Amino acid sequence: MNDTLIFALPGNENLAKQFAETLNVDIGVATIRRFPDGESYVRVGSDVTDKRILLIATLADPDPQYLPLLYTTNVLKELGAKAVYLIAPYLAYMRQDKRFNPGESVTAKEFSKLISQAFNGLVTVDPHLHRIHDLSEIYTIPSFVVYAEGGIALWLEQHVENGFLIGPDSESEQWVSRVAAVNHMPYVILEKERLSDREVKLTMPDISAYQGRHPILVDDIISTAGSMIATIEQLNERGFEPPTCIATHAVFAEDAYEKLQAANVKQIVTCNTIPHVTNQIVLNDWLVDAIEKLLTY
Ligand code: R5P
Repeated sequence: MNDTLIFALPGNENLAKQFAETLNVDIGVATIRRFPDGESYVRVGSDVTDKRILLIATLADPDPQYLPLLYTTNVLKELGAKAVYLIAPYLAYMRQDKRFNPGESVTAKEFSKLISQAFNGLVTVDPHLHRIHDLSEIYTIPSFVVYAEGGIALWLEQHVENGFLIGPDSESEQWVSRVAAVNHMPYVILEKERLSDREVKLTMPDISAYQGRHPILVDDIISTAGSMIATIEQLNERGFEPPTCIATHAVFAEDAYEKLQAANVKQIVTCNTIPHVTNQIVLNDWLVDAIEKLLTY
């Protein structure tokens, strides 16, 4: 694809290289860095005239990433790029999808406006669709969504026998049920009440029928790991073996990974949407497919 170039925000170079090889697209030259005072510096060294640009930027830490993202897309357009597409395997700000308390900013909508103004299209993986049912409800640019269930189901098929799936809250049913359908596994869904940023209260249905099976927790995001740890505590109380914890997005805020490791867990597995030591499930084939659809849209 001679008319397309790939650029990456810092930290996304590996994924950019893998996409470049599979799509047979060159990687553009750019310097994106911070000055000592924290301001961003962006310089594009490639000729981008009339090119379509794939900008790879997973958005696990969106606030400091947003300005370099904006400066990069804007300078690419100023230099003559025909279109700039955001490839964000993790799309941030999807969880504050309503005003839970008076006066709150609905940041899912605010963020979608900023991204829609800056880019010509979007590819992402499992955006946290809950009260918003489709990205097109808030994003005004073409968006292509990859669902992780294919990768998760394949990994489970190869690594776990005689399991049952557990989703920690009602919204997890969409991805847990899709994995269950592929793997022909039973699943249960818990009720979750969020008490604070880090604390949740869970109600587990009767799971005694699954004694002897291996518990597999599946969620889209591990942030503080509070949801996973609370679920593990419930499994411990009921005498189940240490579970496998699977998440699409390894956000792992603060020391969440260490806390989850210290819980009674067999293994922690995530998809490669955010680089992390737990990335075992590679979604590149699905992402490349979505990028190709976006480029031919
Ligand atoms: C929220 O509903 C998401 O699907 C996850 O369950 C949530 O983000 C996990 O957060 P934490 O790891 O902080 O419990």
